Amino acid sequence: MTYQRYLVTGGAGFIGSHFLHLLLRERPQAQVAMLDKLTYAGNPANLGDLLADPRFQWIRGDITEQRLVEAICREFNVEVLVNFAAESHVDRSLIEADSFIHTDIVGTYALLEVASRWPLARYTQISTDEVYGEVLSGAADEEAPLAPRSPYSASKGAADLLVHGYTERHGLDSIIVRGSNNFGPAQYPEKFLPLCITNALEGLPLPIYGDGLQMRDWIYVEDFCAGILTAIEHGSAGAVYNVGAGTPRTNIEVARHLLRRLGRGEELIEYVSDRPGHDRRYSIDSTKLRGLGWTPQHEFWPAIDQTIAWYQEHRDWWEPIRSSFEFRRWWRRNYEERAIPSPESSVLSPGGSPTGTGDLGLGT
Ligand code: NAD
Ligand code: TYD
Repeated sequence: MTYQRYLVTGGAGFIGSHFLHLLLRERPQAQVAMLDKLTYAGNPANLGDLLADPRFQWIRGDITEQRLVEAICREFNVEVLVNFAAESHVDRSLIEADSFIHTDIVGTYALLEVASRWPLARYTQISTDEVYGEVLSGAADEEAPLAPRSPYSASKGAADLLVHGYTERHGLDSIIVRGSNNFGPAQYPEKFLPLCITNALEGLPLPIYGDGLQMRDWIYVEDFCAGILTAIEHGSAGAVYNVGAGTPRTNIEVARHLLRRLGRGEELIEYVSDRPGHDRRYSIDSTKLRGLGWTPQHEFWPAIDQTIAWYQEHRDWWEPIRSSFEFRRWWRRNYEERAIPSPESSVLSPGGSPTGTGDLGLGT
């Protein structure tokens, strides 16, 4: 089923912005309203030429504001709501969980309340493989129990349960799409891959938590977005779909590859204290979505190299972020105690600073 009128929330973030580009490219008839609060992770620059596209309109606002969401549904006669809006970084959820409860849980509740009143054709919840908790062997399918182990994954799991509840109670047509770790252009550089790429580009240490042997089931963002569109158009009401590429890799092998590609030495690898409750491995089984005709189109290492090239060519995108107050504040909160020298510090970390200054170059 092809739909025409969409409301996409969180579309100024990493995955949401890729989804918007894909949707308007693949479905030229689509009309899209986008609602985003523009938190630190939201960036209008991610929307690029969509800003001038007559099929696209964006509204700045919070998904917890039911009246606003309802007004948008009415104004745009929305058929499909796709909820990307979330606080999405595990490490932040360990330090400041409030905004995760606000957006991921209360925000989803607010959207579902509106959805229970407005005749939506389909509600789409963007979720994560992290709700299954760590998967030490094999791969979790959609029937696996939810066993989240961080405030982030717990807030996303709670949202999934709310979606189930509203689907049962109000006969809502919903789907839940659970993606694995995404990577690609324009990912806020707090996440592992863009953090390591941009650090390496600046000759700074790559902070590897624990032994670096944790595994993530990486997927290129374009493949995830194509999977979401497949699930929206062909998925069954009430169903959950996993979207992973089935290529789990250890963090350390990914970090080593980045360094080789960027012509940097392994002395930039800096093992630091582990994330508390760090999930050792994620892996999901996407057979169900493949049954609807979706397959990932991007090989892992070439897509990584494409991503590295994007960050090499788009310093104008990430340099202002890394020099912002918000980023530097986050850096101090998460990395200062991890033996990575703080931006202000002139003390070398145990591994020594490859810049020879003991300064991460992020300013103060
Ligand atoms: P992101 O952090 O890059 O972007 C989140 C966006 O949501 C930002 O534009 C932000 O401004 C907006 N937002 C936050 N709170 C809001 C609120 N209260 N109201 C309106 N807008 C708000 O996130 P992302 O990495 O693009 O992830 C998007 C979705 O995909 C999230 O739901 C996340 O849980 C899920 N997901 C992410 C990954 C991943 O690897 N990044 C993997 C699987 C699933
Ligand atoms: P991340 O990108 O935060 O995604 P998630 O925790 O949601 O999977 O982290 C990916 C992996 O990289 C995870 O095992 C934690 C690890 N990691 C580091 O080793 N160092 C870092 O500085 C960060 C941010 C993550």
